[in-house]
Parts: sequence; C-alpha cells; structure tokens
Amino acid sequence: MAGLFFRSDTAIALLHVPFMPRPAPSPLPRIRVLATGGTIAGAQTGGARGYKAAAFSVEALIAAVPQLSELARLDVEQVAAIGSQDMDEATWRKLAARATAAFADPDIAGVVITHGTDTMEETAFFLNLVVRSEKPVVLVGAMRPATAISADGPMNLFNAVAVAAHAEAHGRGVLVVANDEIHFAREVAKTNTTQVGTFRATARGLAGLVNAGRIHFYSAPVRKHTAQSEFTLEGVTALPRVEIVYAYAGAGRELIDAAVKAGARGLVIAGVGDGNLGATALAAASEAAQAGVAVVRSSRTGGGVVERNIEIDDDQHGFIVADELNPPKARVLLMLGLTRSRDARVLQELFFSY
Ligand code: SIN
Repeated sequence: MAGLFFRSDTAIALLHVPFMPRPAPSPLPRIRVLATGGTIAGAQTGGARGYKAAAFSVEALIAAVPQLSELARLDVEQVAAIGSQDMDEATWRKLAARATAAFADPDIAGVVITHGTDTMEETAFFLNLVVRSEKPVVLVGAMRPATAISADGPMNLFNAVAVAAHAEAHGRGVLVVANDEIHFAREVAKTNTTQVGTFRATARGLAGLVNAGRIHFYSAPVRKHTAQSEFTLEGVTALPRVEIVYAYAGAGRELIDAAVKAGARGLVIAGVGDGNLGATALAAASEAAQAGVAVVRSSRTGGGVVERNIEIDDDQHGFIVADELNPPKARVLLMLGLTRSRDARVLQELFFSY
C-alpha cells in the first residue's frame, strides 16, 4: 500500500488535497496533405537512374514514414498524379481551392503539398499570392525517387509536416521544405538538375532550418503574401496568357512577334544581365508594349534586381521591371496582375509590392 511509505503528517496532508483531474492531453495538430505526384512519389525503372514520377499514392508515401504519427493527425487527398513539368493552371486552382477550403475548418492547422521539384517554385509563389490565410502551406518534394538508394523524400516529408504543424510557421507565407531547409515561396529557386541541395534562396536567404522535425526560424518574408494579398480567383475564369521569351546573343524579334500573335497579353523577357535585350528584340518588345501587351523585363542570371531606366528607358518603352522575381515567378505575378489592371504603372507597383 503506497501510504505505508509516507510519513503520517504527509499522508494526512495528501488526504486533504482536493481531487484535481489531469488535463486531457491536447490532440496533435491536424494537417491536410494534398498530393500532386513528382519524384517524391517516383519509382525507379530498371537501373539506379531511370524512374517514373508520380508512381506512388499519397497513402503509400505516408505509410513509408510511420514517425509522422508523432507529429500530426493527417488527412490526405490525391489532387493530381503528375510530374511537375505538367503542372497547369487548372491544378493550381484546385490546390488553391483545396487549401482555402481546408483552412475554413478551424481544426486544420496547416496544409502540406507534395509536388515535383521542377516547377515547385512557381506553384509555391502562385499559392503565396492567392491563398488568403495566415495558416501555413508547405510544399515538399524530393530529388530522388521513393525507391532510390538514400531517398530524400521521407525526411523531407517528415520535416514538411513538422513545419506545417508548428505555430511559428503562421504568417510566413507559403514555404518550401527540402534538404533540411525552409524557404520562402518568393525567394526559392531550383538551381541544380540532380543534387538534393537543389533549392537555393536568392538574395534574401532562408526562412529557417529543420533538423529531423526540430525547427529554427530565422526571418520573416519581406513582401506582401497570402493573408495580405489582393489577388483572388473568384470571378476569373481563365488567367491571361503570359509568355516568357529568352534573350541571348543574336536574338531576333520572331519569338516576341509570335507570342503577341498567339494572343499573349503579357510577355516576360528573361533578359541578359539586368534584363537587357538586343536592339532587334528590344524594338519588337517596345512595339508590343505600345500595342497594349504588358512587357516585364526580368533576368536570366538567377539573381539580383532588375531596376528601371538603367540601360533601357522603361518609361519611354512602357516596360515594367521584375524587381527580384525570376522569369517564371514574374510570369505568375503578371498573370494575376493582369486580372486587376493592364496599366503598366499599376502593374509596376505590384512588382514592387509582392
Ligand atoms: C518533377 O518535377 O515532377 C520531376 C522532378 C522532381 O520532382 O524532382
């Protein structure tokens, strides 16, 4: 009998302690996992290198990481089963709608999206502009297929769920988790064809690090995103067509003219250096802008700011500069911007704000 070991005065004191029910342990956060395919769900075909993306279901990915049950209660939806080279507006819209619907449920703490790495930065930035919630959306992928030697997907998924379930992830916009790093949607870019450390933060650095589920946040996003965003897909049946034209030594005007002829309402120039382009292409871009096509000068260099009116007189041509956005992200912002205005000055402000 336990009382046998008490001093009698202690036992008497204990007898008078009122019964205190233990608080019920708070349940683990609930996280919705939306799956789209990619290499994280890929299976090798034949040797050590060949593989097929999007071969495994989201249930199979989760079953491969039983430790996830220590982090969160998961519910899942297979939204698509594609390699991210096939990501498109319809799937972006579906993801935005599913994330928004999930956040309407107060019990859902965050959303994790499994996604191919090739176009992850575009999807992440799109959702960063259209999902109006402080709750975290975390995109995760892998560079090695699920059946590869030393697959990176399981730890990336574990870390992504840990980030989505973490209170400090709120209000940081859409995040990308891979290789123990946490990236902001606006800053992240894929920079290597095969290595697991492919994602790099551009000028402004990492959001934080995550080490086997332990999280260290370092910084806050610098521009408007998610809950502060002015963009909505309501009433927008199709986003305006925006094409990217790559600049290079000796580039002519044909691709710009073809994009305009095909009905582009916006053009992003992946310019040389600080968003520059040769005289022939420049003349074509200027004509496009005068004809009402929104022309954004971005840079193919992978870093830095494209500034107004340095080598090119943007005021005279009616151009917009991409500021720090790389060409694919500039395209995303321009598509959404064109749902609000065709005025180059208004569009320019958006590029300085997001
Ligand atoms: C893809 O983007 O779907 C293929 C490449 C990858 O996921 O790493």
